[in-house]
Amino acid sequence: MPTAAPAIEAREVSRIYRRGATEVVGLSRVSFTVAAGDLVVLKGPSGSGKSTLLALLAGLDRPSAGSLAVAGRDLARLNEAERTRYRRTAVGMVFQAFNLLPTMSVLENVCLPALLAGRPYAASRAQARRLLAGLGLEARADHRPAQLSGGEMQRTAIARALINAPALILADEPTGNLDSANGRVVIDLLHGLTREQGRTVVIATHSRLADGVATRCIGLRDGAVADDACNR
Ligand SMILES: Nc1ncnc2c1ncn2[C@@H]1O[C@H](COP(=O)(O)OP(=O)(O)OP(=O)(O)O)[C@@H](O)[C@H]1O
Ligand SMILES: [Mg+2]
Repeated sequence: MPTAAPAIEAREVSRIYRRGATEVVGLSRVSFTVAAGDLVVLKGPSGSGKSTLLALLAGLDRPSAGSLAVAGRDLARLNEAERTRYRRTAVGMVFQAFNLLPTMSVLENVCLPALLAGRPYAASRAQARRLLAGLGLEARADHRPAQLSGGEMQRTAIARALINAPALILADEPTGNLDSANGRVVIDLLHGLTREQGRTVVIATHSRLADGVATRCIGLRDGAVADDACNR
């Protein structure tokens, strides 16, 4: 039986930011693998490279060296059109600041990635309504983001991250702007995506809210893997 490729395989991944003569190490020779269905917490002090790694995994940025494969596809080898398609369909992203578009309704925000991926309008709206209903937000579909609570905004952002059915969900400090009760709800939702739907979730966080449900911890310090960063 063929073995499925790991959900993520990072080999000696580095990201060096260069500005003029100065170099800043974002990541330095980071290697790890993540299995499909894992819920990974990414831990480490401020500046340790968590967001840098998520940006690489999201296809928003490229490694300076090394290889980074998601579901067997080396992201460094994708051309621009393939990267755009990868960003739009293979990964979903959730951010601390929610990043909803203020002039659009909740439903329109959730639909947007589907429309950008070229999916038909009516089917996208129907799918967005189903996702919102599943997250307890059906009554909020026609509201603007500013009319929502923080927890509702983050659940809207999760619906948006899911609309193109990505196998990989990346969350950068998703509970950072939430109280602990709403943070718990968001972590439980992300956990459910792994447990019930077999998706892979990576959560970069300083919080301990996800510790009890994580199947993996990847610790970073100064851009390098450091297991002790998981125990802080
Ligand atoms: N666009 C950039 N240009 C130059 N340096 C950068 C850039 N982005 C990040 N860095 C640097 O790379 C290092 C890693 O930053 P990163 O944002 O990945 O850390 P982080 O672990 O996400 O931190 P935090 O917990 O504060 O969010 C830091 O030294 C940072 O200053
Ligand atoms: Mg960060």
